[in-house]
Amino acid sequence: MPSALTLPFLRYHIPISSPFSLPRCSSTTTAAVSQGDSTLRKTMDRLAGNAHLMIVSDLDHTMVDHHDPENLSLLRFNALWEANYRNNSLLVFSTGRSPTLYKELRKEKPMINPDITILSVGTEITYGNSMVPDDGWVEFLNQKWDRNIVSEETRKFTELTLQSETEQRPHKVSFYVQKDKAQDIMKSLSVSLKERGLDVKIIYSGGMDLDILPQGAGKGQALAYLHKRFKAEGKLPKNTLVCGDSGNDAELFTIPDVHGVMVSNAQEELLQWYSANAKDNRKIIHATERCAAGIIQAIGHFNLGPSTSPRDVMDLSDSKMDKFDPAYEVVKFYLFYERWRRAEIENSDRYLANLKAVCCKSGKFVHPSGIEQLLHDCVSSLRTCYGDKQGKQFRVWVDQVLIEQIGSDSWLAKFKKWEQSGEERLADYKVEFVEDRWFKFSWDPKDKASLRSL
Ligand code: GLC
Ligand code: MG
Repeated sequence: MPSALTLPFLRYHIPISSPFSLPRCSSTTTAAVSQGDSTLRKTMDRLAGNAHLMIVSDLDHTMVDHHDPENLSLLRFNALWEANYRNNSLLVFSTGRSPTLYKELRKEKPMINPDITILSVGTEITYGNSMVPDDGWVEFLNQKWDRNIVSEETRKFTELTLQSETEQRPHKVSFYVQKDKAQDIMKSLSVSLKERGLDVKIIYSGGMDLDILPQGAGKGQALAYLHKRFKAEGKLPKNTLVCGDSGNDAELFTIPDVHGVMVSNAQEELLQWYSANAKDNRKIIHATERCAAGIIQAIGHFNLGPSTSPRDVMDLSDSKMDKFDPAYEVVKFYLFYERWRRAEIENSDRYLANLKAVCCKSGKFVHPSGIEQLLHDCVSSLRTCYGDKQGKQFRVWVDQVLIEQIGSDSWLAKFKKWEQSGEERLADYKVEFVEDRWFKFSWDPKDKASLRSL
């Protein structure tokens, strides 16, 4: 494997300057930094202790399968995460996409919200749903970086085609280049940019994309930075699983102590990197399953926690859990709702009666606007919509199912409900955010009611 490609991955180092000693910034930067910092703090504080699992996953062809029009593996992952991990773990998306293309993907695919989003090949780190940037990271990346010089030097290579404007970012210059030309160009470019005084990292991905970044950037470096920040707070996740399919993901697998999964459909350049650099590392597997199904497979393989998605459980009433888990109940409820409307379960009053039997008569859905609806009424109204989405592209998923214990045997579940609906044609659908919802639950161990609302 030519050194131009392997070099950046081998030269992994954790920055020891500004990002970890943020206060020495100018007053404007300090204000911005503290906004990023406070959002990170909220993320950390949401968990009672150290995260049980931190998943750091690439999106295109890893979490998201562009060859699966039904998005089934992504939906399976979502249900698994919300039912079992959301309340004790951290989800990090790490993508090559810019914020613009990332937001487009979110409109197209049934995705849940991550805690942290790393964009533009590890050059932008953002926290929370509002994607507050980590300015300490930005400042660190300014070292030995000048994108004007990169533009000047790359203009000399006619084989390089500039990617769209949205993908040109403050610390990332991106091109398309043919596979057979890539290695030579990368070698010449690293020489010429070095001569101009820059310290850059050149990464080739997907057999077509060439990114030029500051040496300290990249998906791996961004993860190392996050680990360091969590460690500084005594909140280093107990386990980290990194997931990827292409060249820009290779660095993720070099971070100490992480488990890693290359999904079955991984690109040649990542598999070659693995054979040359990491094939004796037993913490890295090449899954036999594609995309998100490969991630689920890795969770099981490394024993990182539950690995059966509620979507793979056909009889939802047959819960084997001996402990009441409100998050699991919310996921199950909406899976039932989806299957009912898609007519994937029998049209039987028995199901509705069962649902009612486990809800208190006074049970309520509470909308954050204050509007309330009796659970029994909601269940009754299901009778009229049985099968109305049969044969259609209709999916429901819940997102950020956060549980708060409000009494010795009662909980408040807050979550977002999403729907994807469309007509018979598979590609013709839209992803819609439907609403924030709250459920109030109580748990009566005597009759093992599974969905009981206050
Ligand atoms: C994404 C980005 C693109 C980048 C590629 C590989 O597709 O949009 O700019 O080159 O990832 O990192
Ligand atoms: Mg990818």
